[in-house]
Amino acid sequence: MTETSEPQAPTQPGRMRQMQVYVTGAGGARPRVPTTPRLLEERAASAMSRRAAAYIIGGAGSEATMRANRDAFEKRQFVPRVLRDVSRRDLSVELIGRRHRAPFLLAPVGVLEMVHSKADLAVARAAKSEGIGYVFSNQASVAMEECAAAMGDVPRWFQLYWSSDDDVVRSLVSRAERCGAEAIVVTLDTTLLGWRPRDLDLGYLPFLRGLGLAQYLSDPVFRARMPQNAPDTGIRPKGLGIVETAFRLSRKGRQYGLSLGQMRAAVAHFTATYSRPDLNWTDIARLREMTRLPILLKGLRHPDDAALAVQHGVDGLVLSNHGGRQVDGEAATLDMLPAVVAKAGHVPVLLDSGVRSGADIAKALALGARAVLVGRPYVYGLALAGEDGVAEVIRNLIAEFDLTLALCGLTHATDLNADCLAGQA
Ligand SMILES: Cc1cc2nc3c(=O)[nH]c(=O)nc-3n(C[C@H](O)[C@H](O)[C@H](O)COP(=O)(O)O)c2cc1C
Repeated sequence: MTETSEPQAPTQPGRMRQMQVYVTGAGGARPRVPTTPRLLEERAASAMSRRAAAYIIGGAGSEATMRANRDAFEKRQFVPRVLRDVSRRDLSVELIGRRHRAPFLLAPVGVLEMVHSKADLAVARAAKSEGIGYVFSNQASVAMEECAAAMGDVPRWFQLYWSSDDDVVRSLVSRAERCGAEAIVVTLDTTLLGWRPRDLDLGYLPFLRGLGLAQYLSDPVFRARMPQNAPDTGIRPKGLGIVETAFRLSRKGRQYGLSLGQMRAAVAHFTATYSRPDLNWTDIARLREMTRLPILLKGLRHPDDAALAVQHGVDGLVLSNHGGRQVDGEAATLDMLPAVVAKAGHVPVLLDSGVRSGADIAKALALGARAVLVGRPYVYGLALAGEDGVAEVIRNLIAEFDLTLALCGLTHATDLNADCLAGQA
């Protein structure tokens, strides 16, 4: 793949963003999307329904993994250098055959219609306006073709959950190729759904209401495989909420030309086939035969798995614990990063899970990540102000990353290394 020219980025994005906020603020206006990560989450939570807040913010079990992810960032400390002429900065990084404007992409996050009606499309538009890459979720609320059409030349990747039906996998991958995806990101940490008490206590799983199924409902192979009627699982919904669920399923069905009965069958078919607990390394070799696109593995955490991934010829790794949504009490991704990078050799490692600020992005790069994926923060921006909210979150992350770099005495994103952090060199 060749490098393409990117939109001209300002060389002082941090200062420009500060001035935009402060000068506007001189008239009394406050940012709609808070820059403080804790406030961003709190405001977004109050803008969401109870079910959406539980699904988006919650994690597995006691949420110890989520806390570990944050602690790992907080315990790292910069040791800045001075008198180094940092008047011009270059935030870009080279990643999977392409130069990215800043060292992050928007992570695949499913079921965004829970927080905003424009969902993935609003995110795609914000990604385009800010020139930041976006990884389309397999559980999206808007079909990948529609998002891709809104993104111009801005990089998009496709995240795959490996269905138990290989023909559906092939179909999704070839659609991703056709809509300009530059990589396939296979998520490996969700072959089963984690134990999520916040959702369990509300008895709420969005997919059963037809949400987050756009990639499937728009897929000709999936549609051809749907049974005539939903198979009887022997478990029945209880309570009057069944009326609301039926209403929502019918409404969703109309969008895709499907009756209520067909929607029920689609949901049942999805539930039965969406993932494969028997997924193993031979499947990665098979994926290589299915696509010419680079392949990244997401949800890999153990350094030995990184070594196996290299042996299997993958093009990149995303060190992720799914934002602490899958296993309670696992290690923070940032803590595992140096060991994973050491085993990954020449293969680029991206990191996610717990990234909340530009300073966090700088810490991840200092510990060896080529780039990061940003997850929940942009969803909070979406909940608060749609497309503009996502764009604001992106601008704030770029601004803080830029200022952190400069104030640490560096001029290039690629200058960050363990020397920048206390006790790491
Ligand atoms: C509500 C929600 C939905 C998600 N959906 C997906 C998904 O469809 N596919 C996927 O690979 N990861 C998914 N993830 C995981 C993200 O890609 C990313 O790994 C995670 O958000 C990182 O954690 P953080 O947001 O706490 O930083 C989801 C995360 C959240 C919070």
